[in-house]
Amino acid sequence: DDIITRMKNIQMIEIGKHRITPWYFSPYPQELTQLPVIFICEFCLKYMKSRKCLERHLAKCSMRHPPGNEIYRKDGLSFFEIDGRKNKTYAQNLCLLAKLFLDHKTLYYDTDPFLFYVLCELDTLGYHIVGYFSKEKESTEDYNLACILTLPPYQRKGYGKLLIQFSYELSKIEGKTGSPEKPLSDLGLLSYRSYWSQTILDILINMEPPEPGEKPTININELSERTSIKKEDVISTLQHLNLINYLKGQYIITIPQEVIDTHKKSLLKRKLRIDPKYLHWQPKD
Ligand code: COA
Ligand code: NA
Repeated sequence: DDIITRMKNIQMIEIGKHRITPWYFSPYPQELTQLPVIFICEFCLKYMKSRKCLERHLAKCSMRHPPGNEIYRKDGLSFFEIDGRKNKTYAQNLCLLAKLFLDHKTLYYDTDPFLFYVLCELDTLGYHIVGYFSKEKESTEDYNLACILTLPPYQRKGYGKLLIQFSYELSKIEGKTGSPEKPLSDLGLLSYRSYWSQTILDILINMEPPEPGEKPTININELSERTSIKKEDVISTLQHLNLINYLKGQYIITIPQEVIDTHKKSLLKRKLRIDPKYLHWQPKD
């Protein structure tokens, strides 16, 4: 790692219909860092030094969606799975773009070990990139997500949690539990906390009692298996929500009415969800 934190080097990017001010340093070529704006093809993510170059490029570039396979499409939203080895240029350009908004993650020039899941909004002009997450093809630490990004114009609309949900839907198909790679950024942790809390509360609140009048029971393993959320994250979420009480030698989950009410309100606000019926995907072995 550099001893000196490298300074933000790109003033502005233009991608599709958006102009975005970067947050952090990203290792774009030196000659681009002097410019007021750099231009990025919204489909292949190639970067260029002028609008003229972009126009010339767009006349030739035939891509209207990311490379790889479209593995999900519903309600105008699609996911593409891109192999960092087979589509190296695209994957490297995606990492460069993402680094503009990621402070602490090392940029992997070697994209071979990763898969990239790119979320797009679809209209008559093509598939417009909204965000993505990356995932190691093999993780010895049960990570099911390496980096996650929602491009700033799309932030705070629920796409981050949609990406997170997607990562867990993949883990469910794999029959595994998973966790995001650490460290998470502040915004990353906020998004995960919100996803974990909603997902776990949803199960707890809707549990049927075994017999009328009896209290339903569930254990951490079951919560973890049903959600694919790693056990440690289930426990930290229950602790964060302050739902674990120790009573007569046992740990008991109690959910105050106020937590139930808040949960129901936030579910009403959550419009974006993955419908697993539309996810067509098999893990490779
Ligand atoms: N301030 C306060 N809360 C915020 C926030 C902000 N700037 N941004 C998101 N949140 C909260 C939302 O309120 C939401 O919680 P809620 O649903 O309980 O209200 C939750 O975080 C998720 O929001 P959502 O709209 O689904 O996420 P997003 O599309 O804005 O994306 C990130 C979240 C983390 C992907 C996005 O902020 C990002 O790309 N950041 C830069 C890259 C990064 O840090 N990645 C994580 C490290 S790898
Ligand atoms: Na955000």
